[in-house]
Amino acid sequence: MRIVVLSGAGISAESGVPTFRDDKNGLWARFDPYELSSTQGWQDHPERVWAWYLWRHHLVQRVDPNDGHRTVAEWEKITGIEDVTVVTQNVDNLHERAGSSAVHHLHGSLFEFRCDNCDSAYAGELPEMLEPELEAEPPQCTCGGLIRPDIVWFGEQLPERPWQASVDAVQRADLLIVVGTSGIVYPAAGLPEMALAQGTVVVEINPEETPLSSSATLAVRQSASDALPHLLQQLPSLLKRV
Ligand code: OAD
Repeated sequence: MRIVVLSGAGISAESGVPTFRDDKNGLWARFDPYELSSTQGWQDHPERVWAWYLWRHHLVQRVDPNDGHRTVAEWEKITGIEDVTVVTQNVDNLHERAGSSAVHHLHGSLFEFRCDNCDSAYAGELPEMLEPELEAEPPQCTCGGLIRPDIVWFGEQLPERPWQASVDAVQRADLLIVVGTSGIVYPAAGLPEMALAQGTVVVEINPEETPLSSSATLAVRQSASDALPHLLQQLPSLLKRV
């Protein structure tokens, strides 16, 4: 059996990384996610966008993968499962730290940085941020450009290689598990549609309803860390009921 797991911010929420659209108590609650994750937002307020990502970069290093990430990594060891591919919209590294070996990041990484002018990779020091701050000066490249996180913002193209690898994995999959994503950001949200169109079983795990819920083969209304550890055992009987 070949499994693809499409994950979003919800799987990392239980590790203490707030989701994009649910950071109600956070310092950035007053900002639309678009303002913090778009080229326009960066051009208008680079110090605000830099502070948001620098904080998340440090936060992610201080938290651990949870049972959801760990279960997905453990599936690789189960006899009869040929392949487990993780396609993630998350920019954290919690799937890798849990032990998953094939992880495609559709929206980039909090651990890579580049110049917004000359595109050179940046490997310089990053200032510590122990508490969230609303503004921080981005470092400068030797060319004078500003250093930005290597993250795909609204208005930018997905990186070709991880996208193509994700499409290939979904085309080969026997089971697609969609976990912790609001399913509203394309093209990632198109992967479950692609799987359903080719007759692949699509299981959604999300405590809330999403635009995918009504068309998914099965929608499990639980958190990632509650649902994933038992999912494969329970799947045959759950599928018989739909
Ligand atoms: P969102 O914040 O939009 O959605 C998180 C989803 O996780 C919601 O549907 C929640 O109901 C669900 N959720 C919350 N806690 C959960 C839990 N414990 N277990 C399972 N599900 C849970 O995050 P994404 O869908 O990942 O893009 O957002 C998609 C993209 O929009 C992000 O990658 C980012 C953002 O703007 C870019 O930066 C380009």
